[in-house]
Amino acid sequence: MDARRNGPRDDAPQARPNKVSRRAMSFYVTTPIYYVNAQPHLGHAYTTIACDVLARHMRQRGEDVFFLTGTDEHGEPVADAAAAQGMEPQALADLNAEKFKALAPQLDASNDFFIRTTDEEHKRRVQDVLQRVHDNGYTYKGVYEGWYCPRCADFKVENEILEGNRCPIHEIVLERHQEENWFFQLSAFQERLEQLYADQPDFVMPKHHYNEARSFIASGLQDISLSRKRLKWGVTVPWDPEHVFYVWFDALLNYYTALGYARPGEDLTDRFWPATYHVIGKDILKFHTVFWPAMLMAAELAVPEHVFVHGFLLGADGRKMSKSLGNVLDPFEVMDEYGTDALRFYLMRDVAFGSDGSVGIDAVRARYEAELANEYGNLASRTIAMIHRYRDGVVPSALTDGELAREFEALPAEVSVVLDRAEPTRALDLIWERVRRLNRYVEERAPWQLARDPEQADRLDETLASLAEGLRAVSVLLHPYVPDSVEKLLLALGTPDVAYERALFAERGSGLPVQSLEPLFPKR
Ligand code: ME8
Ligand code: MG
Repeated sequence: MDARRNGPRDDAPQARPNKVSRRAMSFYVTTPIYYVNAQPHLGHAYTTIACDVLARHMRQRGEDVFFLTGTDEHGEPVADAAAAQGMEPQALADLNAEKFKALAPQLDASNDFFIRTTDEEHKRRVQDVLQRVHDNGYTYKGVYEGWYCPRCADFKVENEILEGNRCPIHEIVLERHQEENWFFQLSAFQERLEQLYADQPDFVMPKHHYNEARSFIASGLQDISLSRKRLKWGVTVPWDPEHVFYVWFDALLNYYTALGYARPGEDLTDRFWPATYHVIGKDILKFHTVFWPAMLMAAELAVPEHVFVHGFLLGADGRKMSKSLGNVLDPFEVMDEYGTDALRFYLMRDVAFGSDGSVGIDAVRARYEAELANEYGNLASRTIAMIHRYRDGVVPSALTDGELAREFEALPAEVSVVLDRAEPTRALDLIWERVRRLNRYVEERAPWQLARDPEQADRLDETLASLAEGLRAVSVLLHPYVPDSVEKLLLALGTPDVAYERALFAERGSGLPVQSLEPLFPKR
């Protein structure tokens, strides 16, 4: 039986407070589905890693987790990119979807499924849901004219447009488009969206993005295009087959459709819908916080619990990293040079999740050397080496230091509360304070001096038991961030279990033999 499906353990440190009892144990987290018009880059890796940290953490706590990522393959951006390379859209989509699919395991992402919007199962369900929207009377045919960004696949409203008629995101010149479309009657949901925001103050997180979305709604909603006639590359509108659905409607629905076919012969919808967290970058806020809940309401489906909006990774030039600006830090180079765990750690540590932040290879190196190698890696090596040297390679089963243990007591609950709010950087701060505390403990206790005095044997036992136990406990909490390194270390300590209750600092040392450990983060 899959351990993850087990119910909550009685001694689990903290139950997530915002869940209703019906689905208290389910945690469904999604990344945006990425466009296949280009290669995977650091921005994609960033969101995927953050979601993976949340998913792994919730699994540790025994929650029923589903973690979804995938690719967005229809629409103008992909059709245009394919045309520019003299390819059929499907061929480009197949080529690049493979790269995104391969990225997840390279990042050690533990996604439960990878959706492609060209999956037949997805397309059929998109048609079903949007047919329902149509049957419910929320669509009509009309002519749309406006300023259009082909990279966003989106019309821009006047107050978003940059000087010189440029896209606020891609900074390219917008095109004047006029076309006959099916429209979605977004304006009909003005009041219900206002009510949603009033009822669920944590529907959008963090707060400044909640405010941004709420004021966008308050400024008055206009109806939006639901279909395209010119374009062939999309999901056919079932009631008007000359049209395909506007790519954003097809794309957003991935979060819902995937649950219907991710496990052949099993429908996961009741178990996981609505999603707990849609994690997105702030470039796609409007779609997820306004259009998406309205579309779900129109189809009589439940809206997600939270949309968490993170910031932009900025290049060294302080501008958004993007394929069109060409200022990208290559995640593959970082992984080649420093390893996957180092990339994961760096991104969760250096850019506060929810804010913008600059990234660069120098900062990667600095965090790697100062924190992973010198603080954590060195603590691990020293602790294990001292247990070999002074206690024949066996962790003393002595009582651990009660005062030190008390400093670790609240940590598991603190971490889970913060991760319930999808704040992986804050949780890592809390964990890292304890890594530093253990390093100070080594200096305070100076085991090499205790070892010289036979009268201090008990104190040395207590010290080594406490160090091994503290290291083990923080490592359990670090597992979602740097899974590979933690697994190596815990194996060397003889205590491989990463279940959440194992993050509690035990009263006694393990009494188990330790193995030797290669440096976790060797000098580069
Ligand atoms: O927007 N900093 O796909 P996309 C941080 N297909 N995150 C970044 C980033 C950066 N510089 N660049 C990209 C799409 N991201 C649509 C989504 S969802 C139903 C459809 C991340 O390939 C961030 O999560 O342009 C952002 O929202 C996403 O990649 C956009 O990926
Ligand atoms: Mg984009």
